[in-house]
Amino acid sequence: MTHFLDINKTDAGALRQIIDAAQTMKDSRNGRPKGAPDDEQPFAGRMVALIFEKPSTRTRVSFDVGVRQMGGQTLVLSGADMQLGHGETIADTARVMSRYVDLIMIRTFEEATLLEMAEHASVPVINGLTNRSHPCQIMTDIMTFEEHRGPIRGKKVVWSGDGNNVFNSFAHAAGEFGFDLTFTGPEPLDPERIFIEEARAKGANIEIVRDPHKAVEGADLVVTDTWVSMHDPQSARERRHNQLRGYQVNAALMAGAKPDALFMHCLPAHRDDEATSEVMDGPHSVIFDEAENRLHAQKAIMRWCLGV
Ligand code: CP
Ligand code: NVA
Repeated sequence: MTHFLDINKTDAGALRQIIDAAQTMKDSRNGRPKGAPDDEQPFAGRMVALIFEKPSTRTRVSFDVGVRQMGGQTLVLSGADMQLGHGETIADTARVMSRYVDLIMIRTFEEATLLEMAEHASVPVINGLTNRSHPCQIMTDIMTFEEHRGPIRGKKVVWSGDGNNVFNSFAHAAGEFGFDLTFTGPEPLDPERIFIEEARAKGANIEIVRDPHKAVEGADLVVTDTWVSMHDPQSARERRHNQLRGYQVNAALMAGAKPDALFMHCLPAHRDDEATSEVMDGPHSVIFDEAENRLHAQKAIMRWCLGV
């Protein structure tokens, strides 16, 4: 079974194949209407279940549109409306869903839920975000970087802010794609050590630098994300804002990166918290290309999962 659970669980050759296929598929659409079918229809007759236990705009819409462009159909399901939310086990849900659909994408809280779904499903399972990782997003970010600047290998990526699930997938990717990664943020919000150690074990050059201005020196890409993720308690909001204020990506911080550095944010953003509107709408920013590329990257991931 070919699941897409995390970047570090996917063979480096397959990761490269997915990024290249995503760009080819994007180019081949060549400005046609969003609802127009692709020339190739590899999902004709196939059904994809998209299960959400957390809110989503980009993931929900890009998977749904992507499947339709490839000729397939989708079921978009809220975890709370399924028996999953009323005590049915993940394992039984996986077994049952596998009798109806050809592919399952799930956005959930605990990583264990994703892994249990994958263990018991007899169709491929894709990670649409957990508390610990967001691999589809970082495949998209690599595609977007390379679309604008060429190969990411050897480049310097700087993450400023919370050491969260999106950062963790960057750490996974640094090991597989061979780029340097610097985390800058307050110590209490450091990423879990395991993500840094695993990436280092794969030969990645990952640093933690407390001073954000030092961290961005020589950066080819500066990235941030919300200061309060969906799984974080809202009661932590004020404390996190106080801890993270100095790590805001603003024009002064971007000025310390390379002149042609890119700025990314997976969105949704809290404008003028983690990044200023001046940066988000400014010349370094590729945030809306990044949002668009979720569509193309995930189409390539889904094709790879089904081998079509
Ligand atoms: N970036 C991202 O995953 O966005 P959504 O939460 O809107 O899906
Ligand atoms: N870190 C954010 C990403 C949202 C796409 C969250 O988990 O809420």
